[in-house]
Amino acid sequence: MSSAPASTDQNLPDGLWNSPFLKACRREPTDVTPVWLMRQAGRYMAEYRAVRATTSFLELCKQPELATEVTVTAAEVLGVDAAILFADILLILEPLGFDLEFAKGEGPVIHNPIQSADDVDRLRRLDDLEPLGFVFEAVRLIRAALPPSLPLIGFAGAPFTLACYAIEGGGSRHYEKAKAWMLRDPGAWNALMEILVDATARYLNAQVEAGAQVLQIFDSWVGALSPHDYRRFVQPHMTRLFSMLDPRVPSIHFGTGTGSLLELQRDAGGSVIGLDWRVELDEAWSRLGDQVGVQGNLDPVTLFAPISEITAQTHRILDQADGRPGHIFNLGHGVLQHTPVDHVRALIDVVHEYSQTRRGGVG
Ligand code: CP3
Repeated sequence: MSSAPASTDQNLPDGLWNSPFLKACRREPTDVTPVWLMRQAGRYMAEYRAVRATTSFLELCKQPELATEVTVTAAEVLGVDAAILFADILLILEPLGFDLEFAKGEGPVIHNPIQSADDVDRLRRLDDLEPLGFVFEAVRLIRAALPPSLPLIGFAGAPFTLACYAIEGGGSRHYEKAKAWMLRDPGAWNALMEILVDATARYLNAQVEAGAQVLQIFDSWVGALSPHDYRRFVQPHMTRLFSMLDPRVPSIHFGTGTGSLLELQRDAGGSVIGLDWRVELDEAWSRLGDQVGVQGNLDPVTLFAPISEITAQTHRILDQADGRPGHIFNLGHGVLQHTPVDHVRALIDVVHEYSQTRRGGVG
């Protein structure tokens, strides 16, 4: 189990090192429960829509000044305890040889999905990180623009979730092409996963070098697997990925629909395990034990309910965490497109106020 706390030699300024978010990543007690939201910069926010009115999504990702503006504005507007780099998990597929498009209203499309073992052999490696230089430049600019004590999260997709897109050619309901391939040709599957792990580890460590304090690995679709198949076809690759990451930096291991996989994910690695709303936070955390923190786990749809309901559900989750060091508040998945911004801000305030009150502090 790779759950040793991150070591202390990254030379971070005190304010950053002692920020509630980084303390929680290290499972140290905090005065307030830190909160940030997956997809905190997105179409639900007017400032984001204004930028997107003149720029395509891919262009936005590839222009570091704009990615910086979007990242920093979202963190400021919401008053969250961490910023997340504005980018996408699929960007890494382009330098490997995939033709990626974000088609209007359709989500991501890969025009040349892999269909055979030969296609895997033809993939490029990420020996040269230069084609993703715009991401590292964005990390540098964001780090410089953020308040000095606000941590910046870098991220990447996990190999299973990336492979789903690379094989299906886009979103999918059942991932039948990817899963059938995994079962039919484990050799080619493992070769693909190894290429993705090597590229992802280099990509993530370069984000750290550029200025990210924490890494989140998004295995968004891994809940589609049985524990049996996760153990055989994914866990060894996740273990290798985590073992390759800069040991100074805490990592968050996120997935959805993972109620039956949590222990296996924990054993693969990560300082913090992401939980979605389909599990009770207290039960999940006691299953995981005290060597990891947890992140989550409000249902994103709750944000469409009245603020009284959002408040009640937020109190319930904070009561379940019960002040145990290592809880990072988040949604169980990303903010949805039509979410009312004032409800999101109310959520952040409730997390801060109630978690301080529970600890007997101000508020
Ligand atoms: O969290 C953040 O604020 C940082 C930015 C971020 C985006 N995508 C921006 C984005 C992050 C961390 C991601 C990760 C990502 N991308 C995941 C894993 C997280 C998850 O949601 O499970 C996945 C599966 C993707 C792939 C992807 N990108 C899809 C399926 C889509 C289309 C769905 C949609 O909401 O449109 C995207 C596009 C995308 N990525 C948008 C944003 C803000 C919307 C693009 C737009 O502006 O039109």
